Amino acid sequence: MKFFVDTADVAEIADLAATGLVDGVTTNPSLVAKTGRPFLDVLAEICRLVDGPVSAEVTATDQAGMLREAERLLAVAKNVCIKVPLTIDGLKACRALSARGVAVNVTLCFSPAQALLAAKAGATFVSPFVGRLDDVAHDGMRLIADIVQIFRNYPAFRTEVLVASVRHPGHVVEAARLGAHVATLPPAVIRQLVRHPLTDKGLEAFLADWAKTGQIIA
Ligand code: E4P
Repeated sequence: MKFFVDTADVAEIADLAATGLVDGVTTNPSLVAKTGRPFLDVLAEICRLVDGPVSAEVTATDQAGMLREAERLLAVAKNVCIKVPLTIDGLKACRALSARGVAVNVTLCFSPAQALLAAKAGATFVSPFVGRLDDVAHDGMRLIADIVQIFRNYPAFRTEVLVASVRHPGHVVEAARLGAHVATLPPAVIRQLVRHPLTDKGLEAFLADWAKTGQIIA
């Protein structure tokens, strides 16, 4: 399973990329707005930090505008993946871009039917938002199960299921159990994945016992 980082914070990405566990990055207009910096500068820096796909979202809502913006974003780096919303114009733009071999992430997916359309439009990734569904008392992980099952029925679909709007480690484990290809994780969730109180307790005991021996490994 691939892990992407869901942030536009360059310092966070640099820190996490150093672990070797980061396979890509996803950004969105809200995450870019939080940085207070020019989008294209931020995008260029992120693309230098990771080899994998970096999703950069268009903000036009019509197909022609999306394709114009996509050209500008693609000029930034080779690993830019164009992110388009799951609308009719987004699907048309997805079809046009993917036909040229451009990587496309179709975002804001909230139903299996929408995911099916993204796959038919040739998306590289489709991003179902699990946390936002949970927030409105729906079952986000049920959506992942449905999409994974549907895509398995059609091996010709190359679209990867990119689990987005992840809120906690439970979402990540369940996504892996269901066979989702990718999860994009806020930096805090990646750090949460590492931690377990029994790991901390066990390490503390090992180090205390070791100190009593007076030995060093040299
Ligand atoms: C996905 O690419 C989005 O950037 C993201 O996962 C949105 O998540 P949110 O619901 O935490 O804003």
